[in-house]
Amino acid sequence: MTRKPIIAGNWKMNNTKAQASELINELKPLVKDAECDVVICVPYTVIETAAKLTAGTNIKVGAENIAWADKGAFTGEVSAAMLKEVGAEYVVIGHSERRQYFGETDETVNKRTVQALKEGFKPIVCVGETLDERESGETEKVCKRQTEGAFAGISAADAEKTVVAYEPVWAIGTGKTATSAQAQETISYIRGVLKSLYGAETAEKIRIQYGGSMNPANAKELMAQPDIDGGLIGGASLKAPDFSAVVHFDK
Ligand code: 13P
Repeated sequence: MTRKPIIAGNWKMNNTKAQASELINELKPLVKDAECDVVICVPYTVIETAAKLTAGTNIKVGAENIAWADKGAFTGEVSAAMLKEVGAEYVVIGHSERRQYFGETDETVNKRTVQALKEGFKPIVCVGETLDERESGETEKVCKRQTEGAFAGISAADAEKTVVAYEPVWAIGTGKTATSAQAQETISYIRGVLKSLYGAETAEKIRIQYGGSMNPANAKELMAQPDIDGGLIGGASLKAPDFSAVVHFDK
């Protein structure tokens, strides 16, 4: 089974329109011959700018969240129709920062994922344990609960369109990467959870990324692991040469 690698940047709350334009224009020539899927997930306010600047290129644009409802009284939320209108194709759902600071739960992650799939987006669903959870031996339990929660009620056909990002919370923005063996072990476990939900054929098709201090120095080794199909890149996606080096992990 060959899964096409997918390297996605998650800009988080960084870059104004002017900064986004500069970064994207620097990035375009650097990644134009990439062999993997290249995605940048950006703040709502720069999605339109990013989509226009990347039109006709191999860079796809994503949002960092999506509302579960179509429209209405949901102050601060942004709907699928709004995201489609400005050119988002992917959407990050359930990032640990959303879970940690903004009350996102397995249930809201599921509702957003269901909505994203219904509206034709490609969700990047994030799961991962905290340091406390890892140290108390709960990594698998947490990843199972979050994965089963996110995929509740989702068909196998839709599951195949979904990307899972395993992001151990203790490795995010800390410079502390999971070792390639640790990342492979947990990602292979998550694939097993998907197998129990959907069967082996579907589980083998779902791409699972690693995220957490992934950078040009460690990308090659992480990507060499059999179950790691990509990366969700925070800090290193904010510098065009670094993001490009991760995209070209095999060079
Ligand atoms: P860093 O690459 O900055 O550790 O962030 C990872 C992440 O949270 C991507 O979603």
